[in-house]
Order: sequence, then structure tokens, then C-alpha cells
Amino acid sequence: MEIKITKTTAPKEKPDSSTLGFGKFFTDHMFVMQYSRGKGWYDAQIIPFGNLSIHPASTVLHYGSEIFEGLKAYRRKDGKVQMFRPIENIRRMNASAERLCLPQIPEDLAMQVLTEFVKFEQDWTPSSEGTSLYLRPFMFGNDETLGVHAVHNATFMIIASPVGSYYKEGINPVKIMIEDQDVRAVRGGTGYAKCGGNYAASNRAGERAEQKGYSQVLWLDGVERKYIEEVGAMNVMFLIGDEIVTPALTGSILPGITRKSCIEVLKSKGYKVSERLLSIDELSSAMEDGTLKEAWGCGTAAVISPIGQLCYKDKIYAVNNGQIGEVTQMLYDTLTGIQWGKIEDRFGWILEL
Ligand code: PLP
Ligand code: COI
Repeated sequence: MEIKITKTTAPKEKPDSSTLGFGKFFTDHMFVMQYSRGKGWYDAQIIPFGNLSIHPASTVLHYGSEIFEGLKAYRRKDGKVQMFRPIENIRRMNASAERLCLPQIPEDLAMQVLTEFVKFEQDWTPSSEGTSLYLRPFMFGNDETLGVHAVHNATFMIIASPVGSYYKEGINPVKIMIEDQDVRAVRGGTGYAKCGGNYAASNRAGERAEQKGYSQVLWLDGVERKYIEEVGAMNVMFLIGDEIVTPALTGSILPGITRKSCIEVLKSKGYKVSERLLSIDELSSAMEDGTLKEAWGCGTAAVISPIGQLCYKDKIYAVNNGQIGEVTQMLYDTLTGIQWGKIEDRFGWILEL
């Protein structure tokens, strides 16, 4: 599809790398494409970054018809820019679209517009250690009527934000609170989809945890409140004895691309990895008897984030004395090494622009 380009007449100054944080700055342009039932996707454009004009009855404002993705472009030492497993994000976005009754985007078209947009904005990819250009594709329903139904009109967009680390802690261990009141998602619901509603439902518990000094919550399953699911913006893994355990994808957990990549790296290095149900009782016992050796979260924004402290029902457990563990460090070094082009990508995950 041809993309119509309108360049900004007021280019912004690029922020200093030390001030980046996460999602505070945006590039000069954004990608927009429209969908109508019967017509398909049309009107692909790169336009100056700016506010949208939306009909007050637009579906997304009332019924939450919205999905999004998150991936990054990385600047290598030789100056080239590359993306990490973008096709996986496109496939997950289409799975989310299917769940929310939003239109899917043919993979070739989605890859085309994503790569063209990133090429167009690539100068915004920062180069300091640990920084990247975070890409946020998203889609929303915008029928201009109040009836509740599968949408007939939708908009797909991509915005980009130069970022540093997601947590202020960087690679230092974070404190996580195990949530025993609210639930994030249930089987049969939208947990496996990356839709805004899941995050809206998470905010109350997240806020409570933050007030107590924790970075995020670790969710338990929505039926029995017994099995570990995931953290607010990351999947989780635990080294218990000599087994690396991560919750199985039962439908209420986001199938993370970092999670999948960790599993592939770990298996390639001979670690024993189990995707299975992990109950809070099993985890508590492992914390009590010292068999829990390491815990970490994994996600695009946070990369690999060591968990140094877990709190459950006001009981506080230190993990690995609050230090980053060997396996966590190995995963961080391997994934960031591949992402920033410092080590060879033997998995075929990198797409160079
Ligand atoms: N779980 C949730 C709820 C998330 O928001 C994210 C971040 O995208 C992840 C897990 C990790 O997914 P990924 O590794 O694809 O970024
Ligand atoms: C990501 O890691 O890309 C995410 O989407 C997390 C986000 C909710 C900040």
C-alpha cells in the first residue's frame, strides 16, 4: 500500500538521553491508517505528530474497543537500526484484534507500514547504553454511534518514543507485591489480548502497591486466586531448585515475546524450563525454605527485571538477598546483546532496517 507522507514543518529538538525515562517524549511524526467494513484498510499516512479529532460517540470512548502493541528499535554501535521480532508483535496484535472484534491487518501490510514508519523516524533512535526507540502500534474502533456491536470502522496508528529504562531502578532489583484482592483477567476473558481494558482494570491494585513502595503487582488467577499469573507489565519466571518455572499460558496471561525469547535462550543453554501452573503455596514454601533462588520479570519495556523482594499478605520475602542472580544476569546480557547487536543473533530474531 502506498503511504502518503506529510512532513512536519516544526521539527522538535531531540531530548538528552539522560532525561528519557519511559514514554515521555514522542517523535515528529505518526502513522495513521483507516478501516471500514467492506472497504478494508485504506488511507495510510505518515503525518506530523499531534492531537486527534474524535467524534464524541466514537466506540473507543465508550466501550473500550482498543488494542496495542509494544516493541523497540535499537541503534547498534555501527549506527544501523534494528527491530526485535516484529512479526511476533504483528501476530499478537491480530490475535488481540480477533478477541476484541476489531479488524485484523494482513501481516505483509502491517510489516510494511511498521518498517516504513520506523525507517522514516529512525534518526530518533537514541544511541546511549540501554536506550531505544519504543514503538507503540495501536488500534481503536471509531464507529460514530452508541450501539454496542463489533466495530465497522477502525483506526490503526503507530507512535514512537525514545526511551531509557522503564523502572527507575534500571537493572537493579524491583519490589513486587502479590495481589490478593483484585484480579486482572479470567479465562475466557481478554487476559491474553493486549487491550487497554486489561490495564484499566489493573490500576487500582497497581496504585495500592505503589503507595506501599512497590513497583508493580504480581497477579494471581481470577478463579481460585491461587496460581501465579504475571506482573503488571511483564511476565514472570522463578528459579526454584534447578527448575525455571514460568506460568503456563492458560488464556488469562499475555503471551509475552520476551517470555518466549527467554524460554528459547534458556533451553538452548540446557536449562530445565517448565511452563506450568505455579501456586502461591508452592512459591511461598520455596521462599520459606530457600529453594527460590531467583525471580525476574520479562517484557519489552522492562527487558529483564530482577525481583529482589516479594510481599504477600503483608509478609515480606527477600529474593537472592535483593541481588540480581546469575541466570537473570545471563538472560539480560544475552537478550540485550542480541537486541543492540553486540552479540550474534543465532535465533534469527533481528530485522535490520
Ligand atoms: N504481560 C503484560 C501484562 C504486559 O503488558 C507485557 C508487556 O508488553 C508483557 C507481559 C510482556 O510482553 P512482551 O515481552 O511481549 O513485551
Ligand atoms: C511493553 O512492555 O511493551 C508494554 O506494553 C508494557 C506497557 C504496558 C508499558
